[in-house]
Amino acid sequence: MRRIIYQSVVSPDLDRMELFRLLYQARAANERRGLSGLLLRSDQRFLQVLEGPTWKLCAAFQTIRRDVRHSHVEVLDERSVPERIFSNWPMRYFDDSDIAKVLNMISAEAHGAVPKVVDEAVPSFFGCDQARANQLRAHLA
Ligand SMILES: Cc1cc2nc3c(=O)[nH]c(=O)nc-3n(C[C@H](O)[C@H](O)[C@H](O)COP(=O)(O)O)c2cc1C
Repeated sequence: MRRIIYQSVVSPDLDRMELFRLLYQARAANERRGLSGLLLRSDQRFLQVLEGPTWKLCAAFQTIRRDVRHSHVEVLDERSVPERIFSNWPMRYFDDSDIAKVLNMISAEAHGAVPKVVDEAVPSFFGCDQARANQLRAHLA
């Protein structure tokens, strides 16, 4: 099992309809390939956490990297993991309209055991510092 976290820049051509199409396509493909994860959007940036069997993940990421619907793909973390976090999420999508809800849902899905690298990457992607993220989490607890 492997997990990759990357960020990228959303293509200026990607309108709402195209985004829905992308999500539909990604979910269907991930269900077929046994991949799971989440896609976050903040303004013109994406952050994706994608996890699954190593060779399926690597193959999918080769395709994703070259996708013209985003650019400047930058891998933030890639590692082997003992198990997946988001087994019920073929590709859950969130934008920055409700950061507290995103943190809460990630934590619930990971049964409170969110890996450190994910726990740090998500608030920081939304421009939220650790103190503020902790406040939001405490508020939810
Ligand atoms: C930001 C972003 C995230 C994507 N996430 C996934 C994903 O999780 N799984 C996936 O199969 N394709 C994802 N895609 C789409 C792939 O690049 C590709 O279009 C899709 O896998 C279909 O490839 P295929 O025609 O070879 O099956 C994503 C594309 C973008 C731009």
